[in-house]
Amino acid sequence: SLQVPSVQEMVMKDPLQVPERYIRNEEEMQKKLDMFHLSSQVPIIDLSLLSKGDEEELVKLDLACKEWGFFKVVNHGVESEVLKAMKDATVQFFELPLEEKNKISMPPDDIQGYGHAYVVSEDQILDWSDALILLVYPSRFRKLSIWPTEPKGFKEAIDAYSTELKRVALELLGSLSLVMGMDKGSLLELHKELLQGIRVNYYPPCRMADKVLGISPHSDTSTITILMQDDDVTGLEIRHQEGWVPVKPVPNALVVNVGDVMEILSNGKYKSIEHRAVTNERKTRLSYATFFIPRDEVEIGPLDHMIESQGSLPMNKKVKYGEYVRQSMKMKHDGKAHTQ
Ligand code: SIN
Ligand code: FE2
Repeated sequence: SLQVPSVQEMVMKDPLQVPERYIRNEEEMQKKLDMFHLSSQVPIIDLSLLSKGDEEELVKLDLACKEWGFFKVVNHGVESEVLKAMKDATVQFFELPLEEKNKISMPPDDIQGYGHAYVVSEDQILDWSDALILLVYPSRFRKLSIWPTEPKGFKEAIDAYSTELKRVALELLGSLSLVMGMDKGSLLELHKELLQGIRVNYYPPCRMADKVLGISPHSDTSTITILMQDDDVTGLEIRHQEGWVPVKPVPNALVVNVGDVMEILSNGKYKSIEHRAVTNERKTRLSYATFFIPRDEVEIGPLDHMIESQGSLPMNKKVKYGEYVRQSMKMKHDGKAHTQ
């Protein structure tokens, strides 16, 4: 990524200033297409029912992935203390002075660390956010040299949170395997080894909140992404029926989104839905996105039985996951699509 300023620092120095590089045109903001009234219809899945193999809940999961590509998860069994410790530790990290945070700044050739991923050109419109990105599993891939040493307890907090989210992801992948007509372990096996990364997004308030975006529209290149949101500030919006539907936070619930890998494997039955984050005029918002992905060398393509059950042709060619991500990035570079 190219080096761009910390938005947090910019707002701290002058809350009134919104540089040209962040301003979007009306068309991009798509104000007129809001679908706020659909917000209450975003599906809610009960993980404790899924884990028991409850048929009705499995049907709900299948529908959610088909029609929304997004759902909220309740009764996931992650203690609220674990969620809170993760939030507290990251808030404290972002409150450190810039020179402290910059000690783990993202190098140009990596997406791990503190900074801005996917800034590829000088004239690209910038997102109103800063990020902290770390690979957490398998643990041998942890780049501990860039894990924050401040605040105290950061490592323990992220470790506990990530371990719990891994459990939730494995439960979900098990249920998704079932609704795709496979054995419970099939999706996991297909990954050979599941990689897990976390991206903490920090969205400072913006005095021109209706003219900037916290994160540009994109679909996730992951298999699935599990998102934790702040309890009191809405920011996530998802594409639905040609409009943007806000996903309102439910305290202690997690939000799951079907990623590109699931869309490809299911031959388009399940949708990797475009989403974006808007900012708030007065409040800072943080979000915590955990990505579950295959290793670079794993080949992904539509599963034969999904092509058959869909009664259609394969939508994608088989491709190594790493190559797929590179292609997606290139498309973003050329301005054809946004992916991350
Ligand atoms: C993301 O898409 O990575 C973040 C969305 C959000 O902040 O809710
Ligand atoms: Fe995303």
